[in-house]
Amino acid sequence: MVVLDRVPGGGGSRGALRELVSSVRALEGPGLAVGVGLGVSVFRAAANRPRQLVDMPSFPGDLLDPAQSHGDVLVQVAGERAADVRAAVERLLSAVPGWRERWRIEGFRAENREEDGRGLARNPFHFTEGFGNPASDRETADRALVRAGQGEPDWAVGGSYQVVRIIRFATALWDKDSIPEQERIIGRRRDGRWLDGAPTDEEPNFAADPKGRLTPLDSHVRLAVPDRREPPPLVRRSYSYDRGDGDTGLVFSCFQRDLARGFEAVQKRLAGEAMAKYLLTTGGGYYFVPPAGDNWIDALR
Ligand code: HEM
Repeated sequence: MVVLDRVPGGGGSRGALRELVSSVRALEGPGLAVGVGLGVSVFRAAANRPRQLVDMPSFPGDLLDPAQSHGDVLVQVAGERAADVRAAVERLLSAVPGWRERWRIEGFRAENREEDGRGLARNPFHFTEGFGNPASDRETADRALVRAGQGEPDWAVGGSYQVVRIIRFATALWDKDSIPEQERIIGRRRDGRWLDGAPTDEEPNFAADPKGRLTPLDSHVRLAVPDRREPPPLVRRSYSYDRGDGDTGLVFSCFQRDLARGFEAVQKRLAGEAMAKYLLTTGGGYYFVPPAGDNWIDALR
């Protein structure tokens, strides 16, 4: 992903945005998918802003580096081959002189695959992620897409709030723990099975384990979703990153129709998790992914 800022004095903001969005779309093709997210700095008038869009706040323990946080427009280019993705980003940058790169990060999904409707990948902590996501397109849309009547501007219906967090992992420290210790910190086995023996795609019985003997109360999944009947409205789609010199981790990314009930509610609950001491969030941002089509550009003032 690459985040761009508009060059000051480079023309009207709507025109510049239209030019950028059409140049991003032009990259799309066989093997390349693109996405766009708008930072709060793109919006001049509060009336047209997605109601919850702000610069991502610093959560307890974060060390946000301004050189890899926030920005006007997030452009995500995904493809099978890293070289094709890189070339597409360079093409984009030279096509839009009214915009300049603010920051970028390259991600990858190890053992990327789809199983029973869910995208799965292995993260640098050796755990497979994605099981907690919904399996159907309907449930995914239900969690991720802004609905009419939610108090959002009309143009934003069908769009989605995207949260990006660059989370550095202390992998050397983590790898000193035994696998069972790691599994108690996450609350699932590396392959996704639950610690009470429930299969990957079934529900664990947390009620039968009130003291957290099998699945510790401060484990990641138990804090993320304490009540299995009420999963938080968010859909995760993260990438691993490795910038060398031990700077490796997750480009955590999630989509939701409501930031407060989605990402922010979960993030607050995770503040006391056992995994916290292995993680340092160093950047990212809040963005709003507009609905399909171009009509939303006219609605911006
Ligand atoms: C970089 C640190 C993180 C790591 C290593 C991590 C890892 C995992 C793993 C291994 C799972 C279990 C498999 C799965 O359901 O996908 C999981 C589940 C989950 N994580 Fe994370 N995660 C991280 C950060 C976050 C953050 C920042 C949030 C949101 C604020 C989050 C929210 C969730 C949720 C909602 C689930 C689903 C729980 C369920 O339905 O069972 N995670 N994570």
